[in-house]
Amino acid sequence: MVEEIFISPKKRGRIAVFLSGRGSNFKAIHDAILGGKINADIALVFSNVEGAPGLRIAQERSLETFYLNPKLYPNREDYDREVIKEVRKRNVDLVCLAGYMKILTFHFCREFKHRVMNIHPALLPSFPGLHVQKKAIDWGVRYSGATVHFVSEDVDMGPIILQAVVPVLQDDTEETLSDRILKEEHKIYPEAVRLFFEGRLEVRGRRVFIKEI
Ligand code: GAR
Repeated sequence: MVEEIFISPKKRGRIAVFLSGRGSNFKAIHDAILGGKINADIALVFSNVEGAPGLRIAQERSLETFYLNPKLYPNREDYDREVIKEVRKRNVDLVCLAGYMKILTFHFCREFKHRVMNIHPALLPSFPGLHVQKKAIDWGVRYSGATVHFVSEDVDMGPIILQAVVPVLQDDTEETLSDRILKEEHKIYPEAVRLFFEGRLEVRGRRVFIKEI
């Protein structure tokens, strides 16, 4: 089944970034926007963590930020329903998960099908989940990397948009490998967002095709 993602390349798009931590991928996307590489603006930086450094960076950059305390909601579904409302209010075209460490409910995934991207620090479908740089070292794989994918209801298993390969060196620690992978994340995430707003991504089943211009 071919699933076109309807986005008008002429219209300036609107992005919501979701983060829980330091926000370096958010910065990479915002820097690409400021550099004129992505035809979109960041309409909202949202977090489930009040003190997330990424929220502070967004405020310093005069972007709208929003924090919602998960403890005020009886379950994840109610929390996500409230988050959906906030995203809807701002007419967002694309949600970019950038180190958002909370699993989205199926409500959210359905509401924004093929309109939520995630960056993951491994070559999916290998090493889904957490602490994946350490898992790659412990498994003895020779290569790991980064993946940008559309988010689906199965965690870390949505259609893959872009990947970058990073060698795993014999003397790598979790920190050195994470740093090397992060540098690639900062290249492929803005690139995937750019392709999205150029209307060049087409989902066919599990596969994402990149249309030539
Ligand atoms: C990044 O390495 C990202 O790939 C990872 O969290 C880090 C966030 O860093 N995401 C996941 O592990 C999602 N499963 P950042 O806050 O500096 O962008």
